[in-house]
Amino acid sequence: MKKVLIIGATSAIASACARLWAGEHCEFFLVARSEEKLELTAADLQARGAGRIHRYLMDAMAFDEHPRMLGHCLDALGQIDIALIAHGTLPDQPQCEREVAVAIEQFNNNATSVIALGTLLANHFERQRCGTLAVISSVAGDRGRGSNYLYGAAKAAVTTFCDGLQARLFKVGVHVVTIKPGFVDTPMTQGLPLPGPLVASPARVAQRIVQGISSRATTLYAPGFWALIMWVIRAIPQPLFKRLKL
Ligand SMILES: NC(=O)c1ccc[n+]([C@@H]2O[C@H](COP(=O)([O-])OP(=O)(O)OC[C@H]3O[C@@H](n4cnc5c(N)ncnc54)[C@H](OP(=O)(O)O)[C@@H]3O)[C@@H](O)[C@H]2O)c1
Repeated sequence: MKKVLIIGATSAIASACARLWAGEHCEFFLVARSEEKLELTAADLQARGAGRIHRYLMDAMAFDEHPRMLGHCLDALGQIDIALIAHGTLPDQPQCEREVAVAIEQFNNNATSVIALGTLLANHFERQRCGTLAVISSVAGDRGRGSNYLYGAAKAAVTTFCDGLQARLFKVGVHVVTIKPGFVDTPMTQGLPLPGPLVASPARVAQRIVQGISSRATTLYAPGFWALIMWVIRAIPQPLFKRLKL
């Protein structure tokens, strides 16, 4: 029975992954900042066949709390087979342009807190010498776009951080996977004018993530067609790219 730590466990994408793992009777250590949502998520997983479920309330921006959370997690699970870092927020780009404090807070939530948690978990996995660290980044990190470059910059930092972790932890048998979803129909994107045919369900994305973790993928576009889209986006010369309304 696999032991799974999920940070940002109430996220729609993370809970869809957890549902698949619940079907394998995995044991969970779920970390989230909303008690109400955490209880609902845990009850849903229990009903779907999960093994023991441990709950931990934590805001990922509470950096001092991270080591205590990991200590509780290891006390509860003994070892971690899969750690999924999933929390994130979609910033209001125009507000980030007007207010430096908001830009920095959003960058910290989407990048700095992930790097802090990833650093702690990497050190744990290095000692454990097995397991998977899965981190949700985004296709937005592949290229800065005028309409959401604060979020893109944070995700680019996460992606580059994970690239480095992969190189470091591969040598001790630890698997690191960078997950790059495209548009997913979750509370994060609710109300946004997204191009319908490109929007995937959390269940579809979760299927790809869970399979990618099993097959030890290193970079996982979800759905897979985003690899091609982003290849084209990255190939557009910057003098042309900066003129596009993207
Ligand atoms: N949806 C997309 O189109 C898309 C595309 C690419 C990447 N992603 C990434 O996928 C991941 C999951 O997002 P989602 O689409 O599943 O959206 P979601 O359902 O809105 O989930 C985001 C989760 O992050 C949690 N969270 C945010 N800041 C937190 C903090 N400081 N401490 C603890 N929890 C925090 C939220 O908790 P509360 O509910 O309590 O606020 C929520 O559970 C994110 O990293 C996101 O950037 C999403």
